[in-house]
Amino acid sequence: MTASAGELSKISGVSAIGALYRRVRARTMQIVAPLEIEDYVIQTAEFMSPPRWHIGHTSWFFETVLQAHRPGYKIYSEDYLFYFNSYYEGFGARIERTKRGTKSRPTVKDTVAYRNHVDEQMLGFLESLNAKTGAETVLSLVRLGLEHEMQHQELLVYDIKHLLCDQYAAPIQPAPASSVKVEGMAEIEGGLFWLGYGHEEKPQAGMPALQFAFDNEKPAHQVFLQDYALGRALVSNGDFLEFIQDHGYQNFRWWFSEGWEVVNREKWLAPLYWELHDGEWMIRDFTGLHPAAGKANEPVAHVSYYEASAFAKWAGKRLPTEAEWEKAATFEPNSAHRIAFPWGDDPVESTKANLLESGLWSVAAIGSFPAGQNAYGCHQMIGDVWEWTTSDYVPYPGFKSEFDEYNDKWFVNQKVLRGGSYATPQAHIRSTYRNFFHAHERWMISGFRCAKDA
Ligand SMILES: [Fe+2]
Repeated sequence: MTASAGELSKISGVSAIGALYRRVRARTMQIVAPLEIEDYVIQTAEFMSPPRWHIGHTSWFFETVLQAHRPGYKIYSEDYLFYFNSYYEGFGARIERTKRGTKSRPTVKDTVAYRNHVDEQMLGFLESLNAKTGAETVLSLVRLGLEHEMQHQELLVYDIKHLLCDQYAAPIQPAPASSVKVEGMAEIEGGLFWLGYGHEEKPQAGMPALQFAFDNEKPAHQVFLQDYALGRALVSNGDFLEFIQDHGYQNFRWWFSEGWEVVNREKWLAPLYWELHDGEWMIRDFTGLHPAAGKANEPVAHVSYYEASAFAKWAGKRLPTEAEWEKAATFEPNSAHRIAFPWGDDPVESTKANLLESGLWSVAAIGSFPAGQNAYGCHQMIGDVWEWTTSDYVPYPGFKSEFDEYNDKWFVNQKVLRGGSYATPQAHIRSTYRNFFHAHERWMISGFRCAKDA
């Protein structure tokens, strides 16, 4: 018997998704592998979640797919549905976010057993899809589930950093050396620009079934930009130390009113993970405690939108809009065409950007990735730190929601960040990717580069 072309592409789609499923699910468990059992259940702050919760919640997501689409699937445990749901109203009652660390059950062992059960069921279900209609819907939900899991891998890195920082035995790879000096601002011409995913995009690497973009990156639409200048380098610890030493955190004139309130209420004196020891600023990361001055040429991380904006004002500059950021990351001025990444259409790899697979567990020094720069000489736009923009996280004109309660319910009171961080999986990042956080948040790996009017 021969399969039709349609069936064949469905079958290869299924096996491509199945392979990605195994890879992504395995990596989550690699991230938590160095943890001791006690580490899995502690919640060190309201904004973080215990690692046990992440490994269960990402499985819960796939269980909702099984519940809705696998005939005869019986839910594993009502209690787990309650504990592992995050914010989905459509899936019923759930534990308050801030109370995820108040329960010792399900145990880590139970959670891993639940995870294994879901994997077995999912892989069996994917196999059974071959001959079925409706496979498209399921494949797109599974694809979303894998993007969701990659988001949680990044959140796990943030949360493990908050939980353990240098006590976590990360399998750290040696950092590349900075090989070029990155200075000044690139002047970028304005005019009409196609913002968002889907305009002139070349097929992404790999199987068509693996192509993906979130609904919030679409549709591509034209925006008008004035001429502008964009920092070639990310703002560094050295730059930020000057702001601190110039009493930036004590001077209201650089701050938004809301930001100034937070600075005073929280007694902020520096970014998160900076510690003052005998009058010297030190930075704690996965590798230990280091003088900030010794890390002067590394991008500053763990700053809020308020701190990034205050620095930019102090420096006589401003933050870029997301359209300004995306044009710099995707526009090739010589051919006047869009490219997938700042360096061109080649896929992401470790010589071009510092992402999760690089295994640095840290930012890399500025100038470490000359092969990743854009045509204007802007470095490290992909990887290292998510970059704050001034843009509000709102739907693009013509937005159509593709998944309930995934992106669109967050379209209020948050700012867009671009480019990915050293904790973002390579397969997860795109130049059109819109991440979003509240202006005061800084436990994620957030930094920035400055812009200026031309
Ligand atoms: Fe989630």
